[in-house]
Amino acid sequence: MPRQREDTSRCEKAVTENAKRSHPRHGVDHVAPITRPMLAWFLYMIDRVGEDGLDRTVLDCGAGGSTPPLAHFAERGYECHGIDISEEQVQRAAAYAEERGYDLALRVGDMRDLPYEDASFSYVYELESMCHLTKADTGKAIAEMTRVLKPGGLLFAHFMSTDFWPLTGSEGAPGEFAGLECGEPVIHSYFEDDEVASYFEAHDVVWKEKRFTYLPLRTRTTTLERWKAWYDPKSTRFPTEADWLAAYEERERYCYAAWEVIAQRT
Ligand SMILES: C[S@@+](CC[C@H](N)C(=O)[O-])C[C@H]1O[C@@H](n2cnc3c(N)ncnc32)[C@H](O)[C@@H]1O
Repeated sequence: MPRQREDTSRCEKAVTENAKRSHPRHGVDHVAPITRPMLAWFLYMIDRVGEDGLDRTVLDCGAGGSTPPLAHFAERGYECHGIDISEEQVQRAAAYAEERGYDLALRVGDMRDLPYEDASFSYVYELESMCHLTKADTGKAIAEMTRVLKPGGLLFAHFMSTDFWPLTGSEGAPGEFAGLECGEPVIHSYFEDDEVASYFEAHDVVWKEKRFTYLPLRTRTTTLERWKAWYDPKSTRFPTEADWLAAYEERERYCYAAWEVIAQRT
């Protein structure tokens, strides 16, 4: 284990040094690690579609946690605001920012009822946060995010697709699955393609992308023992243990499927 930790830190240092060379930093010496491909996509897209007549004000909805994505925006010279419903998550993000010198205006609050004036930000995004809302609440959150966007501003949103596999947990309304994450009850909402489109009828959609990420390594390394341990007796799609064990044979279907949408406020 110590060996592994040493290798990881060497690799992180190399990434940090390369990133410092390729992107101007704004008052911070640290380089926030890109923790997920989705985050890399966000940053790539914001460079590609952003700017035209927009100032660098950004709001992250669901901004908490120990590696806050807002750090990347601070490095790029944005005025950064973030809101999260969990005080603990806000504290984690604030501690990260303080230790590394990022200026992030973080507060506790709910993306379904944002405590900001209309037309406050040029960019509003959420990253794997709105997926914890019901579908009705997703509509409320998108309306709120749109309200606080300046005209012409860009909304970046992420939706998990019903093509995700396996869909675990207990399904209440269609596509809304209740389950546990780190021992805490959470919802995950999964959307049909036309449901995603229906949230953006009043926007100009600038870009949309549906990505299937297959996980062959996970398929190969998931033993039957581990698979058995993940059996959830409350699962709707795999109601019996026999159904779950049969799904083990299909595990090459392991897939993270999600939509990313960039929509402009008209
Ligand atoms: C999986 S974490 C993602 C955190 C961060 N966006 C990231 O990508 O690292 C989901 C976050 O959404 C927050 N969240 C869930 N429901 C929310 C709501 N209604 N309003 C604001 N934040 C919410 C959770 O507290 C949690 O911090």
